[in-house]
Amino acid sequence: MRSVIPDYLVEALRDVEPDGSGEQAGYIPELAAADPERLGAVFATVQGEVYGAGDIDTEFTIQSISKPFTYALALTDRGFDPVLAKVGVEPSGEAFNQISLEGDTGRPLNPMINAGAITAHSLAGPEGLSPAERVERVIHGLSAFAGRRLRTDEAVCVSEMEHAHRNLAIAHMLRSHDVLTEDPRTVVEGYTRQCSVLVTARDLAMMAATLANRGVNPLSGEQVVPGPVVRQVLSVMFTCGMYDAAGDWATQVGIPAKSGVAGGLIGALPGQIGIATFSPRLDPHGNSVRGVSLFERFSSDMGMHLMGVPAAARAVVRANHVLGSGPDALRVLQLQGGIGFAGAERVVREAVNSAPPEVRVAMDLTMVYSIDDVARRMLLEVARRLTLDGHDVYLVDPESILPDPDPGDGGRVTVVDIVEQAMPSPHTVETSPLKRNVL
Ligand code: DON
Repeated sequence: MRSVIPDYLVEALRDVEPDGSGEQAGYIPELAAADPERLGAVFATVQGEVYGAGDIDTEFTIQSISKPFTYALALTDRGFDPVLAKVGVEPSGEAFNQISLEGDTGRPLNPMINAGAITAHSLAGPEGLSPAERVERVIHGLSAFAGRRLRTDEAVCVSEMEHAHRNLAIAHMLRSHDVLTEDPRTVVEGYTRQCSVLVTARDLAMMAATLANRGVNPLSGEQVVPGPVVRQVLSVMFTCGMYDAAGDWATQVGIPAKSGVAGGLIGALPGQIGIATFSPRLDPHGNSVRGVSLFERFSSDMGMHLMGVPAAARAVVRANHVLGSGPDALRVLQLQGGIGFAGAERVVREAVNSAPPEVRVAMDLTMVYSIDDVARRMLLEVARRLTLDGHDVYLVDPESILPDPDPGDGGRVTVVDIVEQAMPSPHTVETSPLKRNVL
């Protein structure tokens, strides 16, 4: 059987293909000459599966899509405080190349507009790097996100530098506020080289998938940046990634995203996939016209809007029943799915409401595939309170989905592999080799 996903992508491209509106970026002559008909789309899962259609291996320059990744490198290399001291996180509601700074602090409003991105470039790598070493740090970092060594397009870089008056103006303004501490032209040259890194839609989808995968490249397995940095970057992409179209984007598409003036567009859906599209004609905000249409369609067809309410929590308690009878009876709370705060709250409520009269109580995790940290702590606290109320508490956890199940302070939990081992039959409870640990 053929996978349905590439066929879906082909159909989506066919639908947007006739739209010839928009223009290539005119202010960089090399980009104005790009083939406007190019069109491609890629999904890359956090497991490293790649699905694509159209022009997915055509190289083009990354442009502003480099911004979230360079911001991630700066946060990783310098730490949060020094970076936040120089670049804010507020949506600007302004064009990407607006010459503006935050009124009270003098910082650029966010790292997605050029003022913040030029500053973030200056903060990549440890302090004291030469401009060339800093560019190398950035290219090396972008390559780690993509999972292959990337290179720059010197013609695009030179072409942009020849017309970089606006970015130079921004950099001089940053220098006058001591946000930049180096020669403004040198920093703009480094930033422009960063923007001229060549990528394909396939690369961009993998870079986005690395963000979706908490900073671990799904193919190489490399932890490119730490989890807290990814959270910061995705948050800023969500609120600022589409510049003065960020509000429309957040409501209609609802995926943290970033666009570039060469026609690339990425989105990262945490825990699921990285998406990239490529189509060079741009709308007045500098975002790819057909890329935006594709993302709108992906979001609604695939239920990808981050604010779409998941139904998962309701179904966490699959069953609440009693096995056996009399003093040997065992109360079993059978749980399922992925458990976060809302799911754990459901378990707490079930335990409180049913106030089990049975001495033995088991939480069966056999059908649970993940428990986040807060849910883990809540389930262990349920176990501790049940113990204090006089119950013998069992965790049926054959795959150690709840590691280190120590409820602490007066709590006691017996971990077993199958629910029958929580029953008081002499050959299962006292002597079974499968009964694993008592905490
Ligand atoms: O700084 C610039 O103007 C370009 N190198 C990048 C701008 C860009 O990609 C804006 N995004 N849509």
